[in-house]
Amino acid sequence: MDTIRTDCLVIGAGLAGCSYAHCASQLGMSVTLVCSNELSKGANSQWAQGGIIFDTSLNAEQLKRDIISASDGTSNPEAVDSLVEHGQEAVQSLLLDELNVPFDREKTGDLKYTREGGHTDRRIIFSKDLTGLAILTNMHEHVVGLKNVSVLTNTVAVDLLTLSHNSLDPLDKYKPITCIGAYVLDTQTGNIRAIIAKKTILATGGMGQIFQNTTNQEGVVGHGVAMAKRLGARVIDLEYIQFHPTVFLKKNCPLFLVSEAVRGEGGVLVNSEGKAFMDTIHPMKSLAPRDIVARAIHQELISSGESCVYIDLSSMKSDFVKERFPSIYQRCFESGVDIAKEPIPVAPAAHYSCGGVFTDLKGRSSVLNLNAIGETACTGLHGANRLASTSLLECLVTAKLTAEADCQDVRSANFHLPAVRDWESPDESPDEVLIQQDMRLIRSTMWNYVGLIRSSRRLHRARRILLELEQEISEFYSGNRLTRSLIDLRNAVRTALLVVHAASLNSESKGSHFVVVGDDEVDTLAAATDEIK
Ligand code: SIN
Repeated sequence: MDTIRTDCLVIGAGLAGCSYAHCASQLGMSVTLVCSNELSKGANSQWAQGGIIFDTSLNAEQLKRDIISASDGTSNPEAVDSLVEHGQEAVQSLLLDELNVPFDREKTGDLKYTREGGHTDRRIIFSKDLTGLAILTNMHEHVVGLKNVSVLTNTVAVDLLTLSHNSLDPLDKYKPITCIGAYVLDTQTGNIRAIIAKKTILATGGMGQIFQNTTNQEGVVGHGVAMAKRLGARVIDLEYIQFHPTVFLKKNCPLFLVSEAVRGEGGVLVNSEGKAFMDTIHPMKSLAPRDIVARAIHQELISSGESCVYIDLSSMKSDFVKERFPSIYQRCFESGVDIAKEPIPVAPAAHYSCGGVFTDLKGRSSVLNLNAIGETACTGLHGANRLASTSLLECLVTAKLTAEADCQDVRSANFHLPAVRDWESPDESPDEVLIQQDMRLIRSTMWNYVGLIRSSRRLHRARRILLELEQEISEFYSGNRLTRSLIDLRNAVRTALLVVHAASLNSESKGSHFVVVGDDEVDTLAAATDEIK
C-alpha cells in the first residue's frame, strides 16, 4: 500500500484546514492537506455570505456579551475570551496583510462594516454577499504555493489510524489510544493509501447534509465527528444544530442561504399578510439571535399553514440591493423573484453544528495527537447557539493556536510512527440506488423528527429508524468496494445517531435545542416543506 509520512495531516480544505496549513508551514512543519474535491469546491466556508467579525478590540466586552447572549448563556467563557483576544490580529495578519482579501471599503479606503442577528454593533467586515468565497479563493491560491504543504485533491478520509488498531507492531495495542494519521481514498483511481502523521487535524466542517433542507455543501455529513467517535474521542453538544432562519424557498427551485446581513441592512421579516411578526417576539425584532428567529418563523408557518415567510426589502433602494447583495439578487432572479421589487420567500434550514469533537482552546481532542478545528470542533465557544459571523473567525483563531501548540510538540516530543496494516477491500461495486435511497431516508428522518422542534416520541422514532439503517449500512459497507458516496453514507448515519442520542439525553430547551414535553405539537412545517419539494 502506498504510504505518505508527514508532520501534520490536515483533513479538510475549508478556512480552518487551509489556515492551519498556512501557519504550520510558516512554523516549518510539513503538511499534507487532504481535500475531498477540487480545492475550488466543497467547503462550507466558501458559502459563508455574511462576513467576519473584525474589530474585536472595539467594545470587546460588548462583543463577549453578544456571543454569550446568543448562546442563551451557555458559551464557554474561556473560549469567548480567546476568540476576542486573538480575533483581530488573526484577521489582520492573514486576511488583510497576507491575502489581501477584497473586503468592501468606503470611498476613503476604510473597511465597511455590517450587522447581523444578535449583534448590537456594526462590527462585521464583508465582501459583498460572497465573503467566504472571496476569502477561500485567495486562500486556496496561497496554500498551493506554500513551502512544505502538499495538497491532495479528490481524496477522502476513510478512517483514522491508531497505534492500538493499525500498527504492525503487536505490542502497540498496549499503548494509549494515539492517532497516527488516516487511511484515505483517491476517488479518481479508487486506491487507498495510508498517511502517517505526527499530528492529525480534523477540519471537515459541519454536518448539515444529514438534514433534508440545509445551507451546507454536498457531502458535509459530519465526517470528522464520525471518525473521531469511532476512535473513542469525546464529542459534545451535538444536539445544538443551528437552523438558519432564512433560506430561499420556492417550489421547484434550489434552496440557498439568504444572508442575515440582508436583515442587518434593513430587511424585515413579514408573514404573507405583510405583518412584521418579530416585533412582538424579541426587542431586536428581525435581528434577534438565530434560534429565536428560526423558531418564530416555524411557529408562524404552523399557525398560517404556509410554507414560507418573507423578507421585506422595501426600506432599501433597489440599486443598493443589487449592489450590496449581487449574488443573492442573481440567484433569486434565476428563480423568478426580483428582490429589487418584491420580498424574498424564506424558511429555516439546518446550517451549523455548534457541537462537535471536544477540544481545548489549542485544538487538542481527548485522543493523543488528534486535533479538531473549525466547525468540526467544539470548544464551547458557541454553547447552545452560535452568534452570526463568528465561524470564519473561529477557524482562523483556533487554526493558529493549534498549529503553534503542535509545533512545540513536534519539535520537542518523540513520535512512534510504525508501519500500518494494508487496507483490505472487497471488489464488489456498491449499488448507488441503495446508497441514494438510504441517504434520503437519513435526511428526511432528521428533518422531520430531529429538526427545530423535538419531542421524546420523535427522537425515539428517529433512533429506531436510524439504528436499523445503520445495521444495514454496516453490512453493505463491509461487503463493497469503497466509494465516496459509501463513505458519506456510513458517516452520515453515525453522525445522525450521535445527534439523536445527544438530543434524547437533554430534556432542557436551550438555544437551538428545543424539546416539547407533550407530543401534541402538530408539525405542519415538515408537511408544508415536503409538499413544495
Ligand atoms: C449569513 O450570512 O447569514 C450566514 C453567516 C454565518 O452563518 O455566520
